[in-house]
Amino acid sequence: MATKTIEDIDLQGKKAVIRVDFNVPLKDGEVTDKTRILGALPTIKHVVASGGTAILLSHLGRPKGEANPKFSLAPVAKALSIELGQPVIFVPESRGEAAEKAVAALAPGSVALLENVRFHPGEEKNDAALAQDFAKLGDLYINDAFGTAHRAHASTAGIAQYLKPAVAGFLIGKELAFLGDKTDNAERPFVVILGGAKVSDKITVINRLLEKADTILIGGAMAYTFALALGKKVGDSLSEPDAVDTAKAALEKAKERGVKFLLPVDNLIVDSLDFGAGTVGNAKISEPGADIPDGWEGVDIGPETTELFKAEIADAKTILWNGPMGIFEIEACSKGTFALADAVASNKSAISIIGGGDSVKAVNQAGYGDQVSFISTGGGASLEFLEGKTLPGVAALDSK
Ligand code: 3PG
Repeated sequence: MATKTIEDIDLQGKKAVIRVDFNVPLKDGEVTDKTRILGALPTIKHVVASGGTAILLSHLGRPKGEANPKFSLAPVAKALSIELGQPVIFVPESRGEAAEKAVAALAPGSVALLENVRFHPGEEKNDAALAQDFAKLGDLYINDAFGTAHRAHASTAGIAQYLKPAVAGFLIGKELAFLGDKTDNAERPFVVILGGAKVSDKITVINRLLEKADTILIGGAMAYTFALALGKKVGDSLSEPDAVDTAKAALEKAKERGVKFLLPVDNLIVDSLDFGAGTVGNAKISEPGADIPDGWEGVDIGPETTELFKAEIADAKTILWNGPMGIFEIEACSKGTFALADAVASNKSAISIIGGGDSVKAVNQAGYGDQVSFISTGGGASLEFLEGKTLPGVAALDSK
């Protein structure tokens, strides 16, 4: 990669300020999903093993520039210490004299996690004074927070102007390799599975992937907007009549480029659902190829579609998945998503990349987290990167 990385610098005796993305889910003070913590371990371990000291900065949630114990990183320091197998010193401040004193006192080889950077209003404003204060905490800067690399904040972008060298960590390197190189130069057939609610949210990524993929499988509520574009009726399904022209243009582009663009041929439809309770009313499979009747809404792909999509996945050499096929949080509507998770995990001859957000949740929930080639730690960041946007947290780093 053209960006300077952790492998290009000397860490011996150096205090490394490392921006990680420890924006992890917490319940009753416990981290409930450690994916992002595990993702940061190679960089932290490398710094320690190379004779450096790791000073970690992160955000957690959206505390809106105010200190708020609900968003404290203290429980994350505990979870990190267990995964790392060494103590993690929690410093209850990330700027100013107290923070500087605490990091100055660190012995070489130690690891410290500083309090939530978003407790300072300057973080999200990319305030120069705050970035300079963060820069005072160490001798060099490593950004490994891929999940936050789409934000130009003081600890993700601003700091890189004031603390040099400023390099990428192993996680950012891996994310860029899988979401970038491995999809730009994909082994073929390259099959993309796209789900999610809105065509308008995903159209940029659809257009971009239409230039790279051989086959695109569409599920989730956005399939109903594509169905409208084909002149079908979708009953009470979630759809975007305003995005029908956009969907038509994507279908046209797929035809022009010879990309197989597969939409569901059947759907699980229900006459009511209660998301909070996780229940549905009456449910049935729509007739293959038929309209969805009024009073019914599509909530998952049907069995015929599942078989069709599974066959494409089985033949793929590269698979990229972003977005679930249905409302997988409700058990009755989760079959299609979980069947595809199984199909992706079963294809051992393909490079399988799970591109962030809900599809990661689905793959982990199905128990296949360790059976795919790569799971992105980015939600918004992975989508923006797949759209071809420059990530400010990467752009701010030194070039080789
Ligand atoms: C995420 O969870 O997507 C990242 O940590 C970024 O968080 P944000 O959307 O609050 O900036």
